[in-house]
Amino acid sequence: VETPRVKTLLAAMTLEEKIGQLTMASGETVGGRLGVTPSVAEAIAAGHVGSLLNLWGPLSVREVQRLALERSRLKIPLFFSFDVLHGHRTVFPIPLGEAAAFSPDLWERTARAAAREAARDGISLTYAPMLDLARDPRWGRMAEGPGEDPWVGSRFAEAKVRGFQGDDLATAGGVAATAKHIGAYGAVTAGRDYASIDISERSLRELHLPAFKAAVDAGVAAVMAAFPDIAGVPATGNARLLRDILRGEWGFDGIVVSDYGAVAELVAHGVAADIAEAAALALKAGVDIDMTSKAYPLGLPVALARGLVSMGEIDAAVSRVLRFKERLGLFEDPYRGLADGAGTVAPVEPPLDRDLAREAARRAIVLLANDGVLPLAREAGRIALIGPFAAAASEMLGPWTGAGHAAESITIADGLSAALPEAAISVVAGVSIDGPDGAGIAKAVETARSADVVLLCLGEAADMSGEAASRARVDLPGCQRELAEAVLALGKPVVAVLFSGRPLILPWLVARAAAVVAAWFPGHEAGHAVADVLTGAFNPVGRLPLSWPYDVGQIPIFYAERPTGRPVDAANRYTSKYLDVPTTPQFPFGHGLSYTRFTLGEPRPTSPVMRRGDQIFVEVEVTNEGQVAGEETLFLFIHDVVASIARPVLELKDVAKISLLPGASGTVRLALTGEALTFPGLDLAPAFEAGDIVLFVGVSADRAHLRRTTIRLIDP
Ligand code: IFM
Repeated sequence: VETPRVKTLLAAMTLEEKIGQLTMASGETVGGRLGVTPSVAEAIAAGHVGSLLNLWGPLSVREVQRLALERSRLKIPLFFSFDVLHGHRTVFPIPLGEAAAFSPDLWERTARAAAREAARDGISLTYAPMLDLARDPRWGRMAEGPGEDPWVGSRFAEAKVRGFQGDDLATAGGVAATAKHIGAYGAVTAGRDYASIDISERSLRELHLPAFKAAVDAGVAAVMAAFPDIAGVPATGNARLLRDILRGEWGFDGIVVSDYGAVAELVAHGVAADIAEAAALALKAGVDIDMTSKAYPLGLPVALARGLVSMGEIDAAVSRVLRFKERLGLFEDPYRGLADGAGTVAPVEPPLDRDLAREAARRAIVLLANDGVLPLAREAGRIALIGPFAAAASEMLGPWTGAGHAAESITIADGLSAALPEAAISVVAGVSIDGPDGAGIAKAVETARSADVVLLCLGEAADMSGEAASRARVDLPGCQRELAEAVLALGKPVVAVLFSGRPLILPWLVARAAAVVAAWFPGHEAGHAVADVLTGAFNPVGRLPLSWPYDVGQIPIFYAERPTGRPVDAANRYTSKYLDVPTTPQFPFGHGLSYTRFTLGEPRPTSPVMRRGDQIFVEVEVTNEGQVAGEETLFLFIHDVVASIARPVLELKDVAKISLLPGASGTVRLALTGEALTFPGLDLAPAFEAGDIVLFVGVSADRAHLRRTTIRLIDP
């Protein structure tokens, strides 16, 4: 829809000015601080740039915005964009860790806090949430998203969009969100970043797109196309995806942004002969903004002259970008949200939101295994804190740290000393994260020998996950295993605390450590949050948002498998299994221990039958049988027993939590709608088929421990 302002501007714009609105340039460090190079400054003044990436901070943003407002002919404000993935100044746990909290309320609050900080820095658009469903831990970008499940991804999407954007984008304190990267990016071949994708339309629609649809329904302002191709059609030039599905079927009317350099890369993909063809392909497919590749400014005029695109198509994209700027309120307030410093003095930064960072980090931590060594006794005697992550502030934030400073992180050593002031804590790295030198192992072993308990802080470096961080071996790099083996050989109780952007495959460690904790990359409050969990000051609530593999050969591994005609049977060779490793993961989706013990009653559906328009609840009695207060997370899965399409053995439909004092009981209600029981039928249209549905309720996707009951779907 063209507003009067957009109409007037379009009528006044030259072709170059129009293409300028579709062109994003990047900020960089110029003269010791963030700014733009002289050539970008000239392009902005000429009206040939419409937005900036990687440029933030009140002084830098004011200075660059002024170029557009004071020197360009039409004075159209720029917008500034940045990757605010898990915090801006204050860094929260990586998204995969936050997903483990299974808390839409928390997901929303951290996004809101990040938005507030980012808006003060002049950012109007964040490239988050990242919503790529990921089932292959070799793919480093798994760290940035919500894990393996489309239902969780959809709830994560809604919460993040609400948190970033608030009710009205023009209101200070919010930023526009980007659902990225549309096109099944998590399914890259063999987990290798940027590699090709080849999946069915059914998987695309059932697994990879629901979180994006949820983001669109929640009003997300922008969508970013993924780098790779699906079956030969790169997402950046994929009209079926961006035009037919995103805009046509879902009614998305925001902006579509390419990934960094991706429009020009259509040439390297082999679907465009030159930059003009690349620009035409992307624009026609529905990409409004070319992020830094220069294919639009260089290629679109040629494409227009060759008749590959029409002025109408260019105008449509320009008007979407101008509408986006209107929605942000930039025409009224081009310095929207920017912290005030009278324009020339850097404003004083508010302190980091450490309370929220600590809450988020401790809710993200998953207690994977525990023989009773945890929680640590308050009078914990002598503790050997060993490993390259024991005192490494630089490794606590993980990938995509926004404007956060790693040096402001609380280390594990700091956090533990504060939590246990009476304990004698000796800290030894022993080895570096990735180095070949094991010479420090002897000292670590000596320290461990005289300790009552050993905390081994191990993992992968912060830059080993995220973009361009695929790993073929999803285990401990460098000499860390050697270090761990040497310490384990002492026979002391060893608690392994793992730092990573993905599940690390360490069956040998799980088998021998007294406890194993997944801390992910916890963010600025790492040390306090880990200490809270280890000491029991906080009873762990984190649950795995993915299946944690036992062996790299099991990848991809996920709980929602379709049934096979030959289910695994140890006694029968001709069944679906491996000869050398189990088919089950090391830890199932949803797994996570507590310091208390809960028991579950039988699930009771509020109705034994359902129609398509119905909603029912499944009620379960939960009792805290242990000695301390705790929170339990319950999962409602379904299995459609007979359908026109084989349905997964388990599909997640709801998650609910309950907090209980020791000895107390309560009822948990899990919701199930008829709409949630539809699936892409034989013709891929949503189908609701009569028949039996088994409902499973439990604390993880471990089928052996799920409680079950059956309901019947009847024709609408
Ligand atoms: O937003 C990111 C994207 O996820 C990966 N490539 C770079 C973009 C901008 O930083």
